[in-house]
Amino acid sequence: MENNLIEKAAKILTQGGLIGLPTETVYGLAADARNETALKKIFTAKGRPSDHPLIIHIGSINEVNDWAKEVSTDAKKLMTHFWPGPLTLILKKQDQVLEIITAGQDSVGLRMPNHPLALSLLKQFGHGVAAPSANQFGHLSPTCAEDVSEELSNKVDLILPGGQTEIGIESTIIDARTHPFVILRQGAITKSTLEHVLNQKVLLKEQTDSNLKVSGNLLNHYAPRTPLLLLSTSELKNLDQEIQNQAIFIIHSNLSLPKQCKVVTLPNDAKSYAQEIYKSLRQADRQKAKWIIVEKPPKGEFWDAILDRLQKAAKKIAL
Ligand code: TXA
Ligand code: MG
Repeated sequence: MENNLIEKAAKILTQGGLIGLPTETVYGLAADARNETALKKIFTAKGRPSDHPLIIHIGSINEVNDWAKEVSTDAKKLMTHFWPGPLTLILKKQDQVLEIITAGQDSVGLRMPNHPLALSLLKQFGHGVAAPSANQFGHLSPTCAEDVSEELSNKVDLILPGGQTEIGIESTIIDARTHPFVILRQGAITKSTLEHVLNQKVLLKEQTDSNLKVSGNLLNHYAPRTPLLLLSTSELKNLDQEIQNQAIFIIHSNLSLPKQCKVVTLPNDAKSYAQEIYKSLRQADRQKAKWIIVEKPPKGEFWDAILDRLQKAAKKIAL
């Protein structure tokens, strides 16, 4: 049964179709990375501007050289250590990588996802697939197959049913061409873990003057449709009753809000919180409240990756 599905998905890719691809982070919208017509469909389906580059997903480290060149020993070290897993490396692109993937830049993003269905499909297909998250541009990333059909319904030819994603937020992106390496997007693989494996310093993008295009770095990304407010625990305690009544709250502490408030309590460890946050925001969105009010997460490396997404999703409105 599963083999048939993988064969069918590989055939769709060969014919230039789009696949909803489960990964360990979020679901992707995948197309053959060598087929320009298929890749254009990704941009149309998502409503994504063409100047945002795509990550190529591969099923084996042997495929790296098809897409990237001048790969340093340190970059290889990260691949061997973390792949398959939630780490995307930005590398110098091979000449033949299509411009639609790189948005005209000299670099390419590569990753090997850690999900059995994704790995089976990539092996069966035998080539890289380009896949952004399978959501409408700027919206929440999907963390289960149903979310993908909610986002893209008839625009995707087949969604592989891979269950709920294990990590819940997008991969860490590291620019592996610079010295030191620079983290462009934080994720489950944290700065200190990377530094430990490399045995050298790694910078966060904020610590550099890099102007690389990372679409998740636009304001108002990863956002639900309902306006999201990100408030500290003390701000939450002091809200007007009118706002309290019109909002749905997502908290993680033991804060007690008045009885009439709609409250979703998420786990207070970062790993479990990340698994649930997009799903909870999606559910909150369906309730058509006036506001989604999220309690600001605590400090901590993985929490910082979550905070990054929430800050981008938040509306800059004064109450
Ligand atoms: O976890 C993930 O990375 C998911 C799953 C599906 O693999 N993918 C994902 O793709 O989040 P997307 O396109 O939604 O976000 C990828 C980010 C974008 O912000 C894009 O601009 C950036 O990666 N990116 C891709 N190629 C790049 C490059 N060559 N240089 C700089 N940034 C790049
Ligand atoms: Mg995305």
